[in-house]
Amino acid sequence: MRSHLCGSINERLEGQTATLCGWVARARDLGGLIFIGLRDHSGLIQVVVEPDNEPAFAVAEKLRQEFCVRIRGQVRLRPESQWNPDMATGKVELLAETVELLNASAPLPLLMTDEDGEEVRLRYRYLDLRRERMQNNLRLRARLNSAIRGYLEGHDFVDTETPILTKATPEGARDYLVPSRVHPGSFFALPQSPQIFKQLLMMAGLDRYYQIARCFRDEDLRADRQPEFTQLDLEMSFAQESDVQSIAEGMIRQVFRYVIGVELHGPFPRMTYAEAITRYGSDKPDLRIPLELVTICDAVRQVDFKVFAEPANDPACRVAALRVPGGASLSRKQIDGYTELVAKYGARGLAWMKVNDRSAGADGVQSPVAKFLDAASIEAILEATAADSGDILFFGAGPKPVVAAFLGALRLSVGRDFDLVEDGWRPLWVVDFPMFEYDPEEQRYYALHHPFTAPAVADAEALRADPANALSRGYDLVLNGAEIGGGSIRIHDPKLQQTVFDLLGIDEAEAHARFGFLLEALRYGCPPHGGIAFGIDRIAALMAGEDSIREVIAFPKTTTASCPLTSAPAAVDQAQLDELRLAVQRSK
Ligand code: AMO
Ligand code: AMP
Repeated sequence: MRSHLCGSINERLEGQTATLCGWVARARDLGGLIFIGLRDHSGLIQVVVEPDNEPAFAVAEKLRQEFCVRIRGQVRLRPESQWNPDMATGKVELLAETVELLNASAPLPLLMTDEDGEEVRLRYRYLDLRRERMQNNLRLRARLNSAIRGYLEGHDFVDTETPILTKATPEGARDYLVPSRVHPGSFFALPQSPQIFKQLLMMAGLDRYYQIARCFRDEDLRADRQPEFTQLDLEMSFAQESDVQSIAEGMIRQVFRYVIGVELHGPFPRMTYAEAITRYGSDKPDLRIPLELVTICDAVRQVDFKVFAEPANDPACRVAALRVPGGASLSRKQIDGYTELVAKYGARGLAWMKVNDRSAGADGVQSPVAKFLDAASIEAILEATAADSGDILFFGAGPKPVVAAFLGALRLSVGRDFDLVEDGWRPLWVVDFPMFEYDPEEQRYYALHHPFTAPAVADAEALRADPANALSRGYDLVLNGAEIGGGSIRIHDPKLQQTVFDLLGIDEAEAHARFGFLLEALRYGCPPHGGIAFGIDRIAALMAGEDSIREVIAFPKTTTASCPLTSAPAAVDQAQLDELRLAVQRSK
């Protein structure tokens, strides 16, 4: 139907005839001439329709935004005064010979700009996706997938599909369930990840597996989480940490080079989980922000201020400071805003200290807590934090995880507000995660990664002896503050696997019922193996410079896990429920 793409028209085609298809981005009648912005996936070109060309003019007069048209015309150079440097085709235009209406459009329910709200964008996603930004995002994502495949296939990874209708796979979220008609009262679970199947493929001798796999998790949604999302999942036999990490790192470096022309220099730095939490208050630190938490327990151990002194003397607690250069200019209202922010992360308050004149020591500070602190302690705090005139110090005191959570969140927030986020890409391997997380309320351990991750201890006895302090053989890859991937070396010994289940409160009977097939497979000469999975949505969003992964997913769900386009999820017929022998309980 067409000879060229809109975006491909340039001055080298001057004088030639081109037939273009696309949508009307805008149509203006300017003093008798009609100017049409014609858009297809490749770009936008200006079309001019002259009144002398009566048949074409008659059609052009009726054109409105998003009408679908075919236009044949002659490429001509615009006068230099009319060159548009913002358009790739800004030096040329098409003088229309014929204008053919292929399909009209109903009046538009949205503006087709970034001003549109998310609900309406998702409701009319097919229109929203026509925009250049969204076209670029989808194309970038396709190039990412292609680059991943190219790299892994070059390294002997075998693309293997695993079931979608399956049994629960524990990644820590709720499952999406699918009722079975053939087996009334029984349910499939959609996979939270292909984890167990990829391990079985290693036991099956596949050696190296990968899959671009859809995963389903019923969890609270955020900008970087969707109920269904896509992983690049891989697994390797006879591998240790360095084998998986070097493949993963090589792949990430190659795809960044290929897809967006960015050179990520290797080897990526490594940091232990403990160090990341202590210095940045996060297990996915954004290293582009040059601010760190400083422990000041020594400076405040003796003070007569319980909020500081008690945690400073408790090994499970911590007093830490975050120094913000130039922060002394913050108003009371701005500080109150930060206090509200940290309260969401469990802070009971947010003590602060403005350093107005560093050379004056304790006399040069302004702080609601200064009256509780003696001059020597204040000097020690200023010393420990390397504070300077014009800075503000924020303090966090309390249980270590709480302080990390709220000062870590504050660090990100002030980093952005003070425009401290440096340009560039800062990858980081986070290693030496704890094996378990203890929930004091439920008095039980949770797997920090998943229950198949190998502990970094000699054997099952050593793990049982001190589970609270055991580290795992897990690793995460973090990029600019986003966890883009996570993986581990797996347990390949059935006895050790059962010990981990025991510690997680899964007894033998339950383990057998849930994962009997895996425990059994481990008995038949399972090779040592390990792997990793990357969040493709997150990598694509980072590459596209988008804050939300919804911008790089063609048809995403809203933050309340629904689809405004199809109205899913939706009620079903009684007949369907009967067939499945399901009864729906109406909410009270
Ligand atoms: P994990 O649960 O860490 O590991 O997931 C791997 C990566 O997937 C991405 N991700 C998500 N992206 C969008 N929406 C979500 N709801 C979501 N949840 C996770 C993240 C994360 O780093 N089976 C293990 C991997 C392994 O051990 O090999 C797993 O699924 O970028
Ligand atoms: P209070 O003694 O509770 O009135 O608190 C005195 C000051 O310490 C106030 O500025 C509080 O915001 C601050 N504060 C209270 N609890 C904490 C905490 N856990 N961490 C940091 N600052 C706190």
